[in-house]
Amino acid sequence: MPNRDHWSSSLGFVLAAAGSAIGLGNLWKFPYITYHNDGGAFVLVYLGCILVVGLPIMIAEIMIGRKAQTSPVGAMRSVVGRAWAPVGGLGVLSGFVLLGFYSLVAGWSLRSFVQCLGWSFGGFDPAVDLGADFGAMASNGGLQAFLGLLFMGLTTAVVAGGVKNGIERVARILLPVLFGILAVLLINSFRMSGSGEALRFIFEPDFGRLQGRGILEALGHAFFTLSLGMGAMITYGSYMSKRDSIVKAAGVVVLLDTLIALFATIIMFTVIFSQPGMREQIGKSTAGMLFITLPSLFYTGVPLGNVLAPLFYMLVAFAALTSTVSLLEVVVSYFIDEHGVSRLRASLLCGIAIYGLTILCGISLGSVDGISNFEIFEGKAGLFNTLDHLVANWLLPVGGLLTTLAAGWFIPKAVSRAELLDRDTRFFHYGAWSFFVRFVSPLAVGTILFFVIFKGADFS
Ligand code: PHE
Repeated sequence: MPNRDHWSSSLGFVLAAAGSAIGLGNLWKFPYITYHNDGGAFVLVYLGCILVVGLPIMIAEIMIGRKAQTSPVGAMRSVVGRAWAPVGGLGVLSGFVLLGFYSLVAGWSLRSFVQCLGWSFGGFDPAVDLGADFGAMASNGGLQAFLGLLFMGLTTAVVAGGVKNGIERVARILLPVLFGILAVLLINSFRMSGSGEALRFIFEPDFGRLQGRGILEALGHAFFTLSLGMGAMITYGSYMSKRDSIVKAAGVVVLLDTLIALFATIIMFTVIFSQPGMREQIGKSTAGMLFITLPSLFYTGVPLGNVLAPLFYMLVAFAALTSTVSLLEVVVSYFIDEHGVSRLRASLLCGIAIYGLTILCGISLGSVDGISNFEIFEGKAGLFNTLDHLVANWLLPVGGLLTTLAAGWFIPKAVSRAELLDRDTRFFHYGAWSFFVRFVSPLAVGTILFFVIFKGADFS
């Protein structure tokens, strides 16, 4: 497709795709589930899942996108076969739903940023009850709608700007800033008393404490954190030119995502473990660690906390923005490529429609009875929790399973071989990749689904 917008270079793709992968999953979800699963052994299993399931599927998705040069619905249709188009459609649906509530949590980071700025300049009062403060924010429907609007507005503006001038440009600016802030925080954390304990917690495996559900959670999170199973990497791959190596780009993105998740976890646990008694308090709720416990700790126990706290929440917001952009792009590219809608129009219409869902999720956190209380999945009351559960337990694993089956069994080997072996192949073994996408990944993802369906496991 001669007029199709492309990344300006291989680096452009890597930054945009890493921007998609690095997000709330790394800064919010991963530290939290690591804590709950007792660190060490869980982290090791997670790294294994990234390597044997995540990386091969990442390569498969980028390959399908680059080959097709069109959005997931058309890509599945043209590269795999007519009957596979609905798998692309499932991705569009997942993007829509996931962005609906993801943008809300992203909005909270803006709120924490502003709150920290206020404390940095006006002084922090250790007596305030931050749990109650967070609860009040969550159940304030108007505020939720406002924060969601800010985030969806930013996301829509970036996507409307186009692939090179919108998405890539923002990733080129934000990602280096994000790495810089993280480096400062990481170096600073090694000067704090809790860093040894944090490192031991994260890296010292004790397999006696690992439970079956932890293994499944690690696998589910590998999909989420790498933006797999919903067409994001197919879409970004479709803007890649044939000159760029798929394998190398996938390797770098996976490596960056993994490092950032580990660094963020070291930083957060160090801050928490440096203060006595804090260990017991975290992890009561998913939101707790990042939005309740951490902000105050910056002001009571972190050297230079006044400067670092706002920086940290800026980092969270930046990471979230490059992810929300990729989610919206999946939906928008569908309307552009399949229905001939202009980019501006598609961005605005999709942005507004998804924002409608964001509002509903926002007011489902306590301000409106009907949507705050209903329960489809056991223990997941309200729209926000229901959608979170639906995406993590159903949509991404099903999308991932179908994608890996497509890549391993339905795309002719001659095609995948030609796509993957056309560039630098020093570190790539086609036979190994093929074995993983054909057998290992389907088996692993099939196991997740089996447990979700028959054992009621929960990955959200
Ligand atoms: N990978 C993102 C994160 O870790 C979430 C995401 C999932 C983004 C799927 C796009 C697609 O936060």
